[in-house]
Amino acid sequence: MARPLEEPGEVRGRPGIEDLPVYVQGKSAPDAVKLSSNENPYPPLGPVLDVVREEAARINRYPDMGAVELRGRIAAHHGVRADEIAVGTGSVEVAQQLVNASAGPGDEVVFAWRSFEAYPILVRIAGATPVMVPLAPDERHDLDAMAAAITPRTRLVLICTPNNPTGAVVRTEEFERFLAAVPRDVLVVVDEAYVHFDRDPDSIDGVDLFRRHPNVAVLHTFSKAYGLAGLRVGYAIAPERIATNLRRVAVPFGVSGLAQAAAAASLDAESALAERVDLVVSERARVLAAVRDRGWRPVESSGNFVWLRTGARTDAVGEALRGGGVLVRAFSGEGLRITIGTPEMNERLLAALPSA
Ligand SMILES: Cc1ncc(COP(=O)(O)O)c(C=O)c1O
Repeated sequence: MARPLEEPGEVRGRPGIEDLPVYVQGKSAPDAVKLSSNENPYPPLGPVLDVVREEAARINRYPDMGAVELRGRIAAHHGVRADEIAVGTGSVEVAQQLVNASAGPGDEVVFAWRSFEAYPILVRIAGATPVMVPLAPDERHDLDAMAAAITPRTRLVLICTPNNPTGAVVRTEEFERFLAAVPRDVLVVVDEAYVHFDRDPDSIDGVDLFRRHPNVAVLHTFSKAYGLAGLRVGYAIAPERIATNLRRVAVPFGVSGLAQAAAAASLDAESALAERVDLVVSERARVLAAVRDRGWRPVESSGNFVWLRTGARTDAVGEALRGGGVLVRAFSGEGLRITIGTPEMNERLLAALPSA
């Protein structure tokens, strides 16, 4: 789309800003079941709300800019050093820090497509060039094609596993082969936003890869399994020099005191977390089986969502679901991403879903 011509004397924007793709938020409506944003349908874990209430009394103060306590807790949780942790307002902001700290005009960032819709936006905001490598026909990352897409201009590779929106994972053996083909001066980021829901024994383990490879970083979030999407906090585990650079490009005081306290308290609620995640995982199996009974052919999903390749029928099926009071994320002409909700929400979904 061409940039509209500015009237003489009008404030000049940065060229290209009006052409940026726009992030589409999952729809919501009163009385509808919202399965459109891969959120956790359950409230925050155990003591988290009490901690947030207590912290609310201090919102006249700026938060700890270094998030020292939270970074220490995250580091202990993973058995890494606090210097290797950077936090942000959701892992999407940490992804932006990674892009901004790695790539600028003339540089390339390689990632699979379709994947998390923020990636191309973040890369273009940085002025770098997105290199989008189509998924394989089985909805998985095509790692050979991604390795072949790396050029001397490549500064960063983003790997999303389980992949949003398809739910497919990257496996250890193929990933080790891929890493061997990536130049050591290119950072590979493993975005594991949905890692808690992944039960595939062959999936890569981002933190283990971070320990063994000097050019691997991992992205995690408190938004999904931990159920803190509204508080906005995520983190990277990255080599110390990179983590330091991420803190340099972060928005000062971005992560609120409420978010820092809630995230730290969530790390203590391991057994409540496991219970919630188990519920979502068993509902995922039930929804996948029911969807297959209707004639759809979704691939296995390791996220808290399933992906239907509805193709040309995407808008029509999305409308039918909406008519049944269920909102999902539609990628027109491609497919529908349906978040796993509570058993009751999933029942409404299945009641409204047309057959293939
Ligand atoms: C793959 C992936 N990464 C990162 C994010 C960002 O999540 P948040 O910014 O809430 O941590 C999302 C959100 O949907 C996602 O799907």
